[in-house]
Amino acid sequence: MNKVQSDFLSLLENHRSIRHFLDKKIPDFDIRRIITAAQSVSTSSNGQAFSIINVTDQEMKKKLANYAGSQKQVEDCSNFLVFCADLFRLEQISQRLNVEMKKVLDSTEMFLIATIDATLVAQNTVVAAESLGYGIVYTGGIRNNPEKVSELLNLPYRTFPVFGICIGYPDPNRIPEKKPRLPLGAVFYQNEYPNFDEVYPYINKYDETMKEYYRNRSESKREDTWSKTITDKRKIPRRMNMKSFLEEQGYPLK
Ligand SMILES: Cc1cc2nc3c(=O)[nH]c(=O)nc-3n(C[C@H](O)[C@H](O)[C@H](O)COP(=O)(O)O)c2cc1C
Repeated sequence: MNKVQSDFLSLLENHRSIRHFLDKKIPDFDIRRIITAAQSVSTSSNGQAFSIINVTDQEMKKKLANYAGSQKQVEDCSNFLVFCADLFRLEQISQRLNVEMKKVLDSTEMFLIATIDATLVAQNTVVAAESLGYGIVYTGGIRNNPEKVSELLNLPYRTFPVFGICIGYPDPNRIPEKKPRLPLGAVFYQNEYPNFDEVYPYINKYDETMKEYYRNRSESKREDTWSKTITDKRKIPRRMNMKSFLEEQGYPLK
């Protein structure tokens, strides 16, 4: 492996979410360079069923921070990028070409395609931004108030906000420790899905690793395991209005 290759893998392995930013704007040139690089991502049939809204207006960021559940970093970051699943563009084109597409656009498969395309371009954006030394954090919290977010951003029918990404200059004094990940044995299987008894020891091992991590990290220390954290988090039903919001927004999932 040459140095460029190993540096690139190190960049991926060094990822951590940044939630504290310097009060400094990223040059527009860099934002465009990042998005241009990210846009080279693969998308289903090259359909590019996504849109990215670059929010720089301070008042709008403040509102979005609020809608996302008082997430201050949304207000403090340089740019808040909202990644939208977008079938509106395709619908507009089909109407201009007199191609009937309603049944297709209403389908669960097209919902998946648009959501996956938006997610892929987002993760490329993350890697591009981090390669230039910027910090990022995803913000799924905007789905706490999807209607308000869509209204604020003037999102048309057949689009919806999948998540946002805060991007900015990381505050060098608030860079968190890297969060450990599950051992490979818990997520990477050979040829077939294994018996869960073979997997569970890896999860126990990870619980021990995360216990140490939560205990020793510089902020928000606590005594907990990963299994407990994730089941506590997921046991509470959240955003149960999502189905009706999606239907309203032109994603009836048929
Ligand atoms: C789709 C998605 C939505 C997320 N939403 C939020 C969010 O609303 N607020 C937040 O602080 N972090 C959010 N995160 C960041 C995760 O909490 C974080 O990636 C995870 O804990 C792993 O930590 P790391 O990124 O530092 O390695 C989100 C991540 C993803 C992928």
